[in-house]
Amino acid sequence: ALTLLEDRYGRVATDLRVSLTDKCNLRCSYCMPEEGLDWLSNDKLLTDDEIVRLIGIGVEHLGIEEVRFTGGEPMVRRGLVDIVRRTRALGPDLGISITTNALGLARNATALAEAGLDRVNVSLDTVRADTFREITRRDRFHDVVAGLAAAQQAGLGPVKVNAVLLRGQNDDQAAELLAWCLERGYELRFIEQMPLDAQHGWTREGMITADEIFAALERSFTLTPASEPRGSAPAELFTVDGGPGTVGVIASVTRPFCGDCDRVRLTADGQVRNCLFAREESDLRLAMREGASDRELADRWVIAMRGKLAGHGIDDQSFLQPDRPMSAIGG
Ligand code: GTP
Ligand code: 5AD
Ligand code: SF4
Repeated sequence: ALTLLEDRYGRVATDLRVSLTDKCNLRCSYCMPEEGLDWLSNDKLLTDDEIVRLIGIGVEHLGIEEVRFTGGEPMVRRGLVDIVRRTRALGPDLGISITTNALGLARNATALAEAGLDRVNVSLDTVRADTFREITRRDRFHDVVAGLAAAQQAGLGPVKVNAVLLRGQNDDQAAELLAWCLERGYELRFIEQMPLDAQHGWTREGMITADEIFAALERSFTLTPASEPRGSAPAELFTVDGGPGTVGVIASVTRPFCGDCDRVRLTADGQVRNCLFAREESDLRLAMREGASDRELADRWVIAMRGKLAGHGIDDQSFLQPDRPMSAIGG
């Protein structure tokens, strides 16, 4: 029988975000330090079998309709193509997507599409090679460009691009980034930076707000709200210069969409997180390794949703950044 992942506020999670690793091959300064972080040890990481089993429980028992693979950088995980293939086998109607920095995507796009991946979202904050190197601390801009093209070629679309604007680094490049994406048919979305960086350096003043993003774009383009309702999707969509191109803004901080949240997360070490900003997790890895049945794991998962808070509370006096950084939650 199906039990829904419903919280105390009546929200039902149907969108499962699965982090496959906390490692990354870039070092974006707003995410993690140059030297990297203390990565999860191998014994804590879920195996491919364990990941597929938990996704299967989500799909079969808990009403999960969409699965998104995240990281760290999900493509650094060896078994990715196989995990996608086995996830596809769980349901022909399941939406399966990935959020990636696109390094190595040029090589992998066709195999991922054949394995059953529907679409990709690519993180790219600039279209200048020198700014890319400054932000990511790696000289890999052209690999990302190739990865994006390969994804589109392989039919992994509509291809979306996620960009975070950073004061003094790329905040003068919003229009340039949009023009570049429009030319190539990628759907660009700007994301407000959230307090989830490993170094706890986020400040409200440092964050480029949605209003600032609009002001910058409207110097070069005319934006009109797109007619599609936002629903539980984080991005508000705008038509650019009368269409067909669009741009999205994910204003997580200044216009929170928590009231419509339909997400639940599984970390690479097998913890259910009911929110990006959750202060508690539920350990499915331990339960699974102690021999829990599918039904028992499903029940634990349902209970984990009861603690989901109404919202992220970033503006509250009492706000505390979660212990896990974005890179270990999966964004
Ligand atoms: P689509 O279905 O393609 O629209 O995916 P998405 O935008 O939900 O996923 P993606 O991984 O591309 O997320 C883009 C950014 O949106 C993330 O990096 C986060 O910054 C933000 N985001 C995603 N999910 C959540 C969420 O549940 N809460 C908040 N506050 N932000 C989120
Ligand atoms: N706030 C918002 N988005 C972030 N990302 C990484 N750190 C943050 C943050 N603190 C974005 C990346 C990528 C996606 C996975 O999350 O730029 O697009
Ligand atoms: Fe959902 Fe938490 Fe994100 Fe709000 S912050 S949209 S509740 S995951």
